[in-house]
Amino acid sequence: MKTFKIAVIAGDGIGPEVIDEGIKVLNKTAELDSGFRFDFTYFPWGCEFYAKHGKMMDDNGIEQLKEFDAIYLGAVGFPGVPDHVSLWELLLKIRKSFDQYVNIRPIKLLKGAHLPLVDVNREDINMLFIRENSEGEYAGAGDWLFKGQENEVVLQNSVFSRKGTERIIRYAFETAKREGRSLTSISKANALNYSMVFWDQVFEEVSRDYPEVETASYLVDAAAMLMIKDPKRFEVVVTSNLFGDILTDLGAALAGGIGLAAGANINPERHYPSMFEPIHGSAPDIAGQGLANPLASIWSASQMLDFFGCEDYGKTVLNAIEQLLLEQQVLTPDMGGTASTAEVGDRVVEIVASLAKK
Ligand code: NAD
Ligand code: IPM
Ligand code: MN
Repeated sequence: MKTFKIAVIAGDGIGPEVIDEGIKVLNKTAELDSGFRFDFTYFPWGCEFYAKHGKMMDDNGIEQLKEFDAIYLGAVGFPGVPDHVSLWELLLKIRKSFDQYVNIRPIKLLKGAHLPLVDVNREDINMLFIRENSEGEYAGAGDWLFKGQENEVVLQNSVFSRKGTERIIRYAFETAKREGRSLTSISKANALNYSMVFWDQVFEEVSRDYPEVETASYLVDAAAMLMIKDPKRFEVVVTSNLFGDILTDLGAALAGGIGLAAGANINPERHYPSMFEPIHGSAPDIAGQGLANPLASIWSASQMLDFFGCEDYGKTVLNAIEQLLLEQQVLTPDMGGTASTAEVGDRVVEIVASLAKK
């Protein structure tokens, strides 16, 4: 029997609440299948850990994580620790250290989820965002000059390497080719006269290797408008780190809400563990009350199952989420229901079990 070793970093705020439900679902899939099991190891890292130890993770934290098949993360960041400290010392550190340069975020409106737009069909909201996840605007490079003085200047540099830009665009082309879908690049070369001119050039170069993939290219401002006006234009989408961050929260609002939006941080070469997480944050405003929607973290567990080659179960979990939405019975308040986080998780587990029997 195959054992998948999972490092669990539940993190802050609603992180532990939603991760518990994802783990219930993963354990159920393992129970239904004699071929694999999960071995979860919990790491207490996050803002409470910081309050006690003055750091977000153990000094050798990255070393400790290396031996795992995957990382399952809740959310990081809470009032009391500056966000740039908590995120750079934990979430962003892991993405970078493990070269998780592909961030896959499905923006797909499942049946039963609320369609927020008029004049748009439900099927029209079905995008796969591939966000560059290792450099760009998140290079962490910059300077703070003449601090506090009249001539104070702050620099935040973005870095687009040939290697980093080409590999994400190639990954997106491979995905679009495999899925038989179009590929849209989102950039901003009119204003960003180095980085995005280069991005567009690389996109054009790589596209020559994929004549069968239909392509489009938009400026990010227009893309934000078109995602609302005409979402069906977007199938597979590739974009930079920051643009991908912003547009996938917009996408979450299109596809049932932030409580339903999942993401996978992938190191495609599998030299290092990949990491699966909901795209939302720690939601301090609702933390500790059983109000958080666990469906995003459950969807990211489904992405993890796909990544492990257990696609049948990945699909079953996604179908279970869809069935739960169609039932409209057991939903958290953000989706108009009155159920608790745990009740939603329990119902997904029941549906997974019933679907697996069929
Ligand atoms: P957020 O995503 O935590 O919350 C935004 C809004 O969405 C809030 O009203 C919240 O209640 C709601 N929401 C989020 N997830 C929900 C869920 N599962 N169910 C129901 N409602 C949900 O974003 P924020 O408030 O901007 O950030 C809070 C903290 O989280 C900050 O410290 C931020 O840096 C951090 N953050 C972390 C991650 C991550 O760990 N991946 C992602 C985003 C933000
Ligand atoms: C996300 C988050 C992170 C990001 C933050 C918390 C650093 O917003 O995963 O979308 O910007 O990548
Ligand atoms: Mn984000």
